[in-house]
Formats: sequence, structure tokens, C-alpha cells
Amino acid sequence: MTHPLLKPMYFANGVEAPNRIWLAPMTNQQSHDDGALSEDELRWLKARSKGGFGVIETCATHVALDGQGWPGELGIFDDYLIPGWRRLADAIHDDGALLITQTFHGGARSIPTKDGLAPWSCSAVGEGENAVRQGTPEDFERTIEAFAQAARRVAEAGGDGVELHGAHAYLVCQFLSTAMNRRTDEWGGSLENRARMIRQVMQATRAAVPDDFVVGVRLSPENYSSTRGLDIDESITVAQWLCEDGADFIHISLWDARENSKKYPDAHPARLFRDALPSQVPLITAGYIWSVDDALRQLDHGADAVALGRAAIANPAWPQRVVQDGRAPTRPPLTPGQLGDRALSDRFVDYMRRWPGFVED
Ligand SMILES: Cc1cc2nc3c(=O)[nH]c(=O)nc-3n(C[C@H](O)[C@H](O)[C@H](O)COP(=O)(O)O)c2cc1C
Repeated sequence: MTHPLLKPMYFANGVEAPNRIWLAPMTNQQSHDDGALSEDELRWLKARSKGGFGVIETCATHVALDGQGWPGELGIFDDYLIPGWRRLADAIHDDGALLITQTFHGGARSIPTKDGLAPWSCSAVGEGENAVRQGTPEDFERTIEAFAQAARRVAEAGGDGVELHGAHAYLVCQFLSTAMNRRTDEWGGSLENRARMIRQVMQATRAAVPDDFVVGVRLSPENYSSTRGLDIDESITVAQWLCEDGADFIHISLWDARENSKKYPDAHPARLFRDALPSQVPLITAGYIWSVDDALRQLDHGADAVALGRAAIANPAWPQRVVQDGRAPTRPPLTPGQLGDRALSDRFVDYMRRWPGFVED
């Protein structure tokens, strides 16, 4: 009998993923300074498709230069980047996996552009050097179009889909948050207004790509760490609206998927979303999934697939070794040498030092 995690999964538009194990989007700072794909980025992702992950999500990838979050971030803001994306799509497809690009704008959390332009968001934040400008409706229109053009480029490069990064307090999530969005015009205030940005990004993206191109979204369902101003009931309503707007999947970023909802301690977020969403729209969960049991528990809660972050760094062939062969997953700490063997460049290894206890010299 086929293992439940290895069964194919269908997106709302009918596209088939070979299994239910995704590589979660992970920033790694390995790309070239101009946003182009590097050999290191290719090698790290390719090792995971080769290891059996059915869906390979890229790191957060900026759709506009004023939305770049980190140095060394992969970009999708210009047509000159398309050849790199084509190479990546071909490499991932050789292993039978799908390539999904996480389209992203950092908003208030962007780094200043090379010509010194300060970041902007729905509302102004901070002062002096750290000041974030309040965006204008022109900024919003330009950025919605940038998301759509980014998806068009992924489709042209042969990629299978995009995931709009609506989580973790970046631009789209900043609009959704009552803590970060203090606007009083039609872009702030009511949930309808705060969701205007994400809905227009979804609608414009959907309109820019063919029907068989997957368009999904990642949401932070409720407050976590510095991501504030979110409410799970509102997040579910937004997810429902996004399904009406053409979302092919909903991905909820939980950080610790073993935990129930903070607002409803007796219910798991996956169950709340699953019960509210159309059955043809798959639900993906992520957060502290290491073992096969952890993953199966997510399916029991109502998820259709799981996305692995740190477990996929430590176990590039998690689907083959841990699910198929039944071996125990390697857990941190890992030495730089061990991470190098797992196709991480020195730069990525350094980045992983931000996660306490992951890298051990
Ligand atoms: C190194 C690293 C980089 C990450 N970068 C992103 C990112 O670019 N976009 C995103 O949505 N989440 C990002 N995340 C969050 C992961 O996708 C995932 O949701 C989180 O790590 C929890 O899953 P895990 O416990 O399996 O690692 C990142 C996490 C890590 C560890």
C-alpha cells in the first residue's frame, strides 16, 4: 500500500504533485548580488528534489528591487533573470518534482535599495535611518503588478507555480495586520480593506498566468513572535476569499505545528482551515515537522501535505530515507562539514547560525 505521504496530491486547478512532502521556502543568501540564480542555490534545491521532495519551494524571492529583504536573495523582478529560473525548473523537473517560487516583497522589512531609497509599507514606522515611509496607492498598484509579472516570468521559465508570501510580517502580511496597518483609507481599517492588497495580488497573479499554473498563498494564521495583529478567524476568512480569487492551495505557517490554535486551545489550526475551505483546495502546514509521525499527525488534523524546513536541511533525502526506508531523521546540531555534505554553501551555513543549536563547530 502506498504510504499516505507518498500519494499524489492535486491542486485546485488539477495539477498533480507526485507526493505530499514539500521543501518549505527557506531564505539562504546564496544567490548572486544581482538576484540571479547561483550554482549554490541550484545545488541546494536540486539535492532536495533528488532526495524525493515532491514540491520544491524556493526561498522568498523579491518581485521588485524595493522589496528585497536580504543580501544574496534570489530575484524574479526582471526578465533578465528568466534563464536562471529555466535552468532551475529543468533541474527540478528531471527528478519529477514541481518547482514553486515564493513571490515576496519585504515592505517595512526590506533593505534600502542601492540608490538609497528607504523601505515603505502600508503605514510609516520608525525614525531617522530606520524610517519606513507610508506607501501611496501608486506604490500599491506598482507592487501588485510586480507580483503578477513575477509569476508570468516563472511560468515563462517553465516553473510550475508561485506561492504569494502573505506570512511572517512582510508586506502583504503588514497590510493584513491590525498592529501594522493603521491606514484609514480603503487599504486599512476593516478586514475587507486590509485584505485588499493580498486579494489584488492574488487576482492579478492569477490573470497573468495560464490556468495550469499553480497559484497559492502562505499565511500566518495567528500571532507568533514578532508577527502581531493577526486573528485566526480573520485569517480563515481571508483564505476563503483567496480561494474565490483563484488560489490553488493554502499554506499555513505554524512554526510549531504540534500546537493547537492559541485562540481555540482545543482545536488545531489545520482542522479549522480545512473545515472552512473548499475541498478541492489543498492545505499545507509547516512547523517543527521532523518525524514521519509528526507529518502523519498533520494529515490527521486535516492537512493535505506537509512542508519541511529544518528537517529538510538536515535530511536532504527525507522522503526516501525517513519515509520509504523508515530510518530515524538526523537532528541538530550538525557541523559545518555535515551541512556542506548536505549541499549547503558556507554562506548558508553561516545563516543557519541564527537558529540556536542548529550548527555546532
Ligand atoms: C533558514 C530558514 C529560512 C527561512 N526562510 C523563509 C522564507 O524565505 N519564506 C518563508 O515563508 N519562510 C521561511 N522560513 C520558515 C520556514 O519555511 C518554516 O516555516 C519554518 O522554519 C518552520 O518549519 P521547520 O520547523 O520545519 O523549520 C525559513 C526558515 C528557516 C529555518
